[in-house]
Parts: sequence; C-alpha cells; structure tokens
Amino acid sequence: MNGITILGAGSYTPSLAVTNEMMTEFIDTSDEWISSRTGIKSRYMSPDKANYEMAAKAAKAALENAGKTAKDIDFIIVSTCSPDFFYPNMACLVQKQIGAEGCPCIDINSACTGFINSLDIARNYLATGDYKTILVVSSERLSPQIDFNDRGSCILFGDGAGAVVVEYGENKPYYSILGAEGDMFEALFCKANYKPNFPKFDGNEIFKELCDTPEKQCYLQMDGKAVYKFAVDAMASAVDKVLNKSGLTIEDIDLVIPHQANIRIIQSALKKMKVDDDKVFINLQDHGNTSSACIPVALSELMAQGRLKRGMKVCLVGFGAGLTYGACIFEY
Ligand code: UT7
Repeated sequence: MNGITILGAGSYTPSLAVTNEMMTEFIDTSDEWISSRTGIKSRYMSPDKANYEMAAKAAKAALENAGKTAKDIDFIIVSTCSPDFFYPNMACLVQKQIGAEGCPCIDINSACTGFINSLDIARNYLATGDYKTILVVSSERLSPQIDFNDRGSCILFGDGAGAVVVEYGENKPYYSILGAEGDMFEALFCKANYKPNFPKFDGNEIFKELCDTPEKQCYLQMDGKAVYKFAVDAMASAVDKVLNKSGLTIEDIDLVIPHQANIRIIQSALKKMKVDDDKVFINLQDHGNTSSACIPVALSELMAQGRLKRGMKVCLVGFGAGLTYGACIFEY
C-alpha cells in the first residue's frame, strides 16, 4: 500500500482576534452561552487580507517548513468555499503570489470537508507518478459570508489558512472514505448569486429565480440542529468505515484530528468511536470553525509543537456543507 509523505505544513492566522466578549457588543449572546454550547472562546477575522493572500501566506510557510521552494511545486490544489473571485480560481492566484511557474492549478469546494477531499486527490495524482510535489492549501475567509445578525451561526466561524506540501509515500498506508448527502444541502448553504435588478426583455422576467432570491440567502444559512445530528453520525460512521477498510483498530491510531466545528459534536462523535480524549487534537477554542482550513491549521500547529512524529498513524475526519463527509488514515 502506498500513500503520501507530508513534507511540511504551514498556516496563516488573520490579524483580528474576536473574542466571545466582543461578540456581545453586537448580538444578544454571552461568553457563557458560546463557550458551553460550542467550546469556542475566540476566532480570527481577516479585515486586511483577501482569501488568496491568506492562502499564499500559509503556502509560503508550508514550503519553508518542507524545505522546498515554489519552483519545486508541480501541482497546486486549493480547497475553499469562500473564494475572492468566481474566476480565476484561487490556486492560480496562489501560484502567482508564491512564484510557482506553469504548474496546473485547481480549486476544490466540498466546504469544510475540502482538505480531506483535496489530500485524497493529491494522493491519487501522486500515485500516477505524473506529479512529484503537490501543494495543498485550504483557506477560508468566511467573515464576508456571515450574517452578523444571526446569533445562531455568526459565533461559530473564523477565517484562517493552512497548507501542506506532499509527495508520494512508498510503503506508507493511506485509506479514505468520502461521501456526500446532497439531499441535505439546505441544512447549510450560501447562495452565490443575488441579482435584484436584472432587466426585463419584452416584458419577460428572466432569471426570475435569481431576482427572487432573498438577500439573506446570500449569507450563510444554517439549520444548526440538523447539521449537528448529521455531523455526529457521519464522523463516527466515516471513522468506523475507514478503520474497517484499513484493517486497523482505533487503538492503532496515534492521533485523531477532527473538523473543529463544535466541542460537543466532537465529544459525541468520539464517544461513538470509543477513542481516548488524549489522542484528539482540539484548537477550536482559539480559532472557531475555519471550515476546510481547520485540519491543515491543526497539522501545522501539531508540527510546530513537535507532537507529530514520523511513523505515527493519523486519522483526519470531517463534515461540511453539501452535506459532505470524509475520513482518512495515513502514516505521517
Ligand atoms: O462546519 C459545519 C458548521 N456548522 C455546525 O457545525 C453547526 C452544528 N450545530 C451547532 O453547533 C449547534 O446547533 C449550535 C451551536 C449552532 C446551536 O446550539 P444548540 O444547542 O443547537 O442551540 P439551539 O439552536 O437549540 O438554541 C437554543 C437557544 C435558543 O433560544 P430559545 O429558543 O430556547 O429561547 C436560541 O435562540 O439558544 C438561543 N441561541 C443563543 N443564545 C445566546 C442561539 N444562539 C445563541 C447565542 N447566544 N449565540
């Protein structure tokens, strides 16, 4: 079985820390409510950097950590659900910012599951032998999508970026389970188009559905309870399935890095997985939910803390809008 070698990781933390206390200045909430319901104490927002600039900063940090330069990169994959442009894609903008040349650049959007999907795509490209060194970046500037009048959702999310440099890993296990339940898309969405003033031709309304889109649907809309229930079941079941596929047991796993959505979701899923708390990395108290950036930011922090050691078996697990889910197990 051949997988991947993560050569290095990096992250970018935006400049503005927004504490729960600061949230009480514009919505009816409290530190006590947010902390006890979500585990989040603070999150970062990026008032001064576009998403592609955050992505490029994380990418440069990952290259440095991996001991590589932009010229070594022969493929760039960016996962984001909050791009600055419809086109070009973020990966092309990152390519320009870091000074990589000519390599293919693609964006992936599977919302918060984006990093796990992107790593899987990287692994498959590496297995073909067509590419040697792939940069995977997950970057999210969710703050412009947030409805700051909606106290049920605005307290959860933050901005951030994480990146890894990956190469082929000979004789290194890699197993994954990916999936989606598109019929649940209304549980978490943000519409891309809002065109209230579209012209009428010959009296005919065109793109009526776009014209009729309520403005609030162009901000993040969430059925928190539906997402919560899906998340607990989907994460536990994805880990169970990927363990079965690998022939490993949860005792064989050294580290679990879950999507950092809500401490209660993580704890409930962990209980179903029967995994010890001390194997699980949590940083949502400081970052909130940064969507697809959560997991590579966690990888970067774990490396900086010296907690990732070669040979460790790591399990990533996440879920997100779609609704999507995924889990993978690899050897670091
Ligand atoms: O990457 C995926 C992203 N999404 C998620 O992970 C969301 C998953 N869902 C959740 O994390 C939880 O459902 C929430 C944290 C969003 C909400 O927690 P909950 O325990 O499901 O609360 P709730 O929606 O049932 O609301 C309970 C009460 C309500 O008041 P009433 O109707 O009981 O009087 C809400 O209006 O809490 C109220 N409430 C708040 N109160 C203070 C909702 N948000 C807030 C708030 N501060 N920020």
